[in-house]
Amino acid sequence: MRLDQLIYSQGFGTRRHCAGLIVAGLVSVEDAVCLDPAAEVLAVSGQTTFSVQRQSWQFHERAYVLVNKPAGYECSQRPGAWPSVYSLLPGPLRQRPGGVKSPGVQAVGRLDQDTTGLLLLSDDGAFIHRMNSPRYHVPKVYEVTVRHPLAVSQIQRLLDGVVLDDDARPVRAAAAQVVTSRHLQLTLTEGKYHQVKRMVAAVGNRVNALHRSQVGPLVLGPDLATGQWRWLTAAEVLALHEVGRAHR
Ligand code: URA
Repeated sequence: MRLDQLIYSQGFGTRRHCAGLIVAGLVSVEDAVCLDPAAEVLAVSGQTTFSVQRQSWQFHERAYVLVNKPAGYECSQRPGAWPSVYSLLPGPLRQRPGGVKSPGVQAVGRLDQDTTGLLLLSDDGAFIHRMNSPRYHVPKVYEVTVRHPLAVSQIQRLLDGVVLDDDARPVRAAAAQVVTSRHLQLTLTEGKYHQVKRMVAAVGNRVNALHRSQVGPLVLGPDLATGQWRWLTAAEVLALHEVGRAHR
């Protein structure tokens, strides 16, 4: 891949700006300054490292990142009352250009402003679709703190299915595990608007706090602080692709 194309594809500005950065001596590949925009670079996803104006960056053909979402952030590109989760990402990820198969970096489904935890973002259109579509049954696990002590009948109704106000077909939890009397672990394979809050309300309880701890095989570990992001590893991306395929 040409160096100017590589820098452009990773979100460092327009093609012209990227060529200018290279000619100005501001771009290094594997620690060596390269002044030729047309230089051919062997770009290996997750391995090739370059720097632009001293900002070190790893080449990723497609972006797959994980954010530990804090409360008080909206998953919208143009948020209203709250800051956007995109403001938690570094500039190159926010500015990666879209293309035929890529919408640019987008949240994989949305979490409410007050929901915390595991949020995926990607610029792989097919991947985003697979993770979100109920057809692929990708399980999402939520830690739900409820206002009233949980009743066995409430758990049973969540598993049997409840009817929400926008669809006559019942929605059911794939799993519902009582952790403590006010802490429920709920697994859903679809992502309707406010689904957890509406399902819990439908069985006569109320969500006080909501945290997503897992998507498919990916568990949010203690190593990623609230508000921080990281690239997914190649193995994690593969595992997520697999879970989508397994249920097709
Ligand atoms: N269900 C909700 O009600 N809110 C979320 O943020 C995610 C799932």
